[in-house]
Amino acid sequence: MIKRIVLNETSYFGENAIEALKEEIPKRGFKKAFVVTTKSLLNYGITKKVLDVLDSINIPYDIFIDFKPNPTVRNVQNGVDAFKSSGADFIMPVGGGSAIDVAKGIGIVSNNMEHYDVVSLSGEAKTKNKSVPIVALPTTAGTGAEVTINYVITNENNQTKMVCVDTNDIPTLAIVDSSLMKSMPFNLAAQTGMDALTHAIEGYITKNSWEMTDMMHLKAIKLIFENLEDAVISKNDKAIENIGLAQYIAGMGFSNVGLGIVHSMAHQLGAVYDIPHGLANAVLLPYVMGFNAKECYVKFAEIADELGLPTDDLNYEEISDLLISYLRGLEITLSIPQKLRDIGVKEEDLMILSQKAINDPCTAGNPIDVTVDDIYNIFKEAY
Ligand SMILES: NC(=O)c1ccc[n+]([C@@H]2O[C@H](COP(=O)([O-])OP(=O)(O)OC[C@H]3O[C@@H](n4cnc5c(N)ncnc54)[C@H](O)[C@@H]3O)[C@@H](O)[C@H]2O)c1
Ligand SMILES: [Fe+2]
Repeated sequence: MIKRIVLNETSYFGENAIEALKEEIPKRGFKKAFVVTTKSLLNYGITKKVLDVLDSINIPYDIFIDFKPNPTVRNVQNGVDAFKSSGADFIMPVGGGSAIDVAKGIGIVSNNMEHYDVVSLSGEAKTKNKSVPIVALPTTAGTGAEVTINYVITNENNQTKMVCVDTNDIPTLAIVDSSLMKSMPFNLAAQTGMDALTHAIEGYITKNSWEMTDMMHLKAIKLIFENLEDAVISKNDKAIENIGLAQYIAGMGFSNVGLGIVHSMAHQLGAVYDIPHGLANAVLLPYVMGFNAKECYVKFAEIADELGLPTDDLNYEEISDLLISYLRGLEITLSIPQKLRDIGVKEEDLMILSQKAINDPCTAGNPIDVTVDDIYNIFKEAY
């Protein structure tokens, strides 16, 4: 069977990797940046670090902040209008997955105006032209959006998160600089780290996984278990750098093979209640792993081995249970709630959420084929 891997043209890693922009931007002949960022990143002085680099090489820029976390169709359309009137020739998201995703939407629509409605990009989009060049600088350590071929946009008309999958949207250049991630407050660092862990675990067990993505996902899982607590609680510099790297490695993997129903279900919680994406994943992950375990015994045992868990006298079912409790231990250390009722989900909505989740593009990647009732039962257990 033929396999495909799509990655950035070039990517840089490590503290102060933004310095690489001084060579890369002139080399590529870019003339004006359309910087997509948020008010809080401007206030924290994070965006300024990047703007200072642009100033130092005399690259002018316009700044776009008119979008919300879990960005919407309208946000993309406003961004396209602003981009067109700015005269910029490349797009530079400086932010988390929301900034990078809205930038991808703007880049794709600007070069494919027949998709100005944005809704027609949902699922596997067949766009004619590549995006406007994107130089992506993540400031959270979770989504891997700087290296994925996906972007997630909320359709407010039907309260659904559309996953848009399109190789034309891959950022040309990714700068994974841990100095942009250090200002994350505790919950944001914990929850985005759990998003990365969910990508790595769902990517490792998804139907299309294969040797190359297994290698990426297993490494990402190990790096996250070994570093997330130190990155979030002690704010250790090396641990923050390792999580930045791990979330990118997980992005390299899942972008090319898909995810599973943790994401199908979490997308609905983001669309309906605006629950942060990483938090929604974190609460659901142990329940979905329990549901998937019987199809994933060998892979869960491989993960447990990689983490050095004491599995010697255990059977496959016991190893899965051990792995899931180890995961819960990490979540509790990171103050992640363990029930949906504790994060604002309403019990009476669970059936409609399940009906929406079954149609999410991530559902097809789950190792076990699911029905609406299966999803409802997992929601109920997690509630
Ligand atoms: N494209 C993909 O492949 C992909 C993968 C997973 C998730 N997503 C999407 O990404 C979005 C979530 O992104 P996210 O979890 O990175 O969060 P986010 O981008 O929504 O950011 C959340 C908040 O954190 C703030 N913030 C970001 N970096 C900060 C920093 N360094 N210091 C202080 N504050 C900071 C932002 O200003 C924002 O207010 C969701 O819409 C999700 O569906 C996309
Ligand atoms: Fe995610």
